[in-house]
Amino acid sequence: MTLKRKLLVLLIVAFGGIQFVPVERGNPAVESDFDGPPAIAAILRRSCYDCHSNETAWPWYSWVAPMSWMLAEHVEDGRKRLNFSEWDEDEAWDSMEEIGEEVAAGNMPLKNYLLLHRDARLSDADREALLAWSGYQGVAEGGGEPEDDGHDHD
Ligand code: HEC
Repeated sequence: MTLKRKLLVLLIVAFGGIQFVPVERGNPAVESDFDGPPAIAAILRRSCYDCHSNETAWPWYSWVAPMSWMLAEHVEDGRKRLNFSEWDEDEAWDSMEEIGEEVAAGNMPLKNYLLLHRDARLSDADREALLAWSGYQGVAEGGGEPEDDGHDHD
């Protein structure tokens, strides 16, 4: 065998091998659900539920390592921080505030997820609706102490 061939065989064997690493890819029971306005629920469902609920639609490539590892990690992390399937009235205000911050900052949905899920993109209208609903106030610009007002000090 040529070196090229040997390397190719090695690669195939390694790729086959990593398929046996177990990946947590379950959907635990849905305990509760987001109960805000239906228009907001629809946006969240479309753009956020794959990582922030127990109703993840696991795509075919979630069965193929190493992609599966990255996906499982995003879902695990995402659910830990915010899980609409464990929506809790008492924590709703906190969650709304965090959602407002993430959406305003353009952090969510994760960028690499949007490459393969174009329908999950937030339109400008979606973003505005989420921000209005969340009560996002924005961060005051400048901040800090007012400038010296120019009065003489003698
Ligand atoms: C591809 C998976 C994925 C999607 C889709 C996604 N998120 Fe996330 N989200 C994560 C991960 C992973 C984290 C935790 C790590 C981080 O902050 O980057 C996170 C963190 C958050 C947090 C932060 C919570 C905290 O503890 O600060 C909020 C809020 C959030 N996401 C809201 C949303 C909203 C709203 C959407 C839909 C518009 C959304 N996410 C879509 C994966 C996702």
